Amino acid sequence: MSTTDKNLTTSWGAPVGDNQNSMTAGSRGPTLIQDVHLLEKLAHFNRERVPERVVHAKGAGAHGHFEVTNDLSQYTKASFLSGVGKRTPMFVRFSTVAGELGSSDTVRDPRGFALKFYTEEGNYDLVGNNTPVFFIRDAIKFPDFIHTQKRHPQTHLKNPTAVWDFWSLSPESLHQVTILMSDRGIPATLRHMHGFGSHTFKWVNAAGQAVWVKYHFKTEQGVKNLDVTLAAKLAGEHPDYHTEDLFNAIDQGDFPAWTCYVQIMPLEDADTYRFDPFDVTKVWSQKDYPLIELGRMVLDRNPENYFAEVEQATFSPGAFVPGIEASPDKMLQGRLFAYADAHRYRVGTNHNTLPINRPHAEVNHYQRDGQMTSDSNGGKSVYYEPNSFGGPTEAPQAKPAAFPVSGLAESVAFDHSDHYTQAGDLYRLLSEEERARLVETVVGAMTPVEKEEIKIRQIGHFYKADPEYGQRVAAGLGLSLPEGL
Ligand code: HEM
Repeated sequence: MSTTDKNLTTSWGAPVGDNQNSMTAGSRGPTLIQDVHLLEKLAHFNRERVPERVVHAKGAGAHGHFEVTNDLSQYTKASFLSGVGKRTPMFVRFSTVAGELGSSDTVRDPRGFALKFYTEEGNYDLVGNNTPVFFIRDAIKFPDFIHTQKRHPQTHLKNPTAVWDFWSLSPESLHQVTILMSDRGIPATLRHMHGFGSHTFKWVNAAGQAVWVKYHFKTEQGVKNLDVTLAAKLAGEHPDYHTEDLFNAIDQGDFPAWTCYVQIMPLEDADTYRFDPFDVTKVWSQKDYPLIELGRMVLDRNPENYFAEVEQATFSPGAFVPGIEASPDKMLQGRLFAYADAHRYRVGTNHNTLPINRPHAEVNHYQRDGQMTSDSNGGKSVYYEPNSFGGPTEAPQAKPAAFPVSGLAESVAFDHSDHYTQAGDLYRLLSEEERARLVETVVGAMTPVEKEEIKIRQIGHFYKADPEYGQRVAAGLGLSLPEGL
């Protein structure tokens, strides 16, 4: 046993006399409730877990920075983007979506790409994925969608019938399903994938002029994917493969980096663009809106403590800084509520005071108290507003830009329903080998679906994207094409 001059203590700081033998009545016991060190030790252990994230539970994180390489301050007044060479510290978390905290890294799933910029105007979180689109485009469908990705309530098994039933009845998913079933569905490592903000956001400049913006983070390591057989083997033999790869690369000084680009759309184009720019199941053509370089993200420091930093990190699509605002995207709008609500439940009301989430900017507000208040809680300073004691006041220049709204308030469907062009374009971009692997993966994934009508319905969607796509999946499943296509 090693010797040290440090005493083991209880959590209240008192030295512990014996950490190997509980206190008993006589040498055989029973154990005495008087052994408060034992009670504390067992009780704290019972409380070591916080609820895992309801989605994206398995993840890996790292610290780094963002550096501006191209000044786009004509489009945004966000101060961390003002001027070439400006550096902002960051924390980043990558994740799978559907699996639990201990699940395998090398499964077919989108990967979360959650970025926290600790800017001088507060934290800016960009909570995206490694895909530019998503399966659905209205937040009201998210809980149902995720139910199909998670386990069956009775069997506690994954349920391919539910997955394909939902997708076949939600054809807006076709684009993302095609990406997921393609080679990109299983990245080789977390370093070898792109990242996207996915939604459209609004940038506002110092003069109050706005544009729509989309973010792309291109991996400088190159895109690499895992062959399915190797991925399955790793999922069994080395379930933390991606987590370990990221940690080791950074530990060895091989710092992964991404170049950040944006697409910028003038506000008025949103009225006439051939796809709804606020539909997160669609991309903007780079021919119409070319990529413009913005900066570079480098990850160069591992967390010191997984629980304190990665598990307790809270990213929210609603954490904006002046110059960056929401768009009317109906998924994004739902997310503006969902994340902060999840954080209050999962980590606690005061989650933003934890070191990993604490802004590097000065924080001044009138919130007080709540579970686990661990900072000065405002001390003796004034605790309400308005007040006559010189407390912090609002900054009118930080108000979001005003924008016009019109129309009837009602639950209304999107008026764009072309879910086939972009999915088909993607299929046509693939090489013959890539198409063959895509079809094989789709066929393998759909084979266990229990109802033939679900398979036929989904084949119809593939067919409408590209007749060859539909025909090949139908042939692989031994089914005929649906009638009336
Ligand atoms: C995590 C909800 C759509 C990316 C989460 C969490 C919730 C959630 C509740 C767990 C948060 C936590 O406990 O810290 C939703 C809802 C959505 C939605 C309601 C749709 C309305 C999306 C989309 C993307 C995305 C479209 C990407 C483009 C992520 C990522 C995480 C996450 C990356 C993990 C964040 C982290 O690393 O802590 N989501 N989500 N989600 N979501 Fe979503």
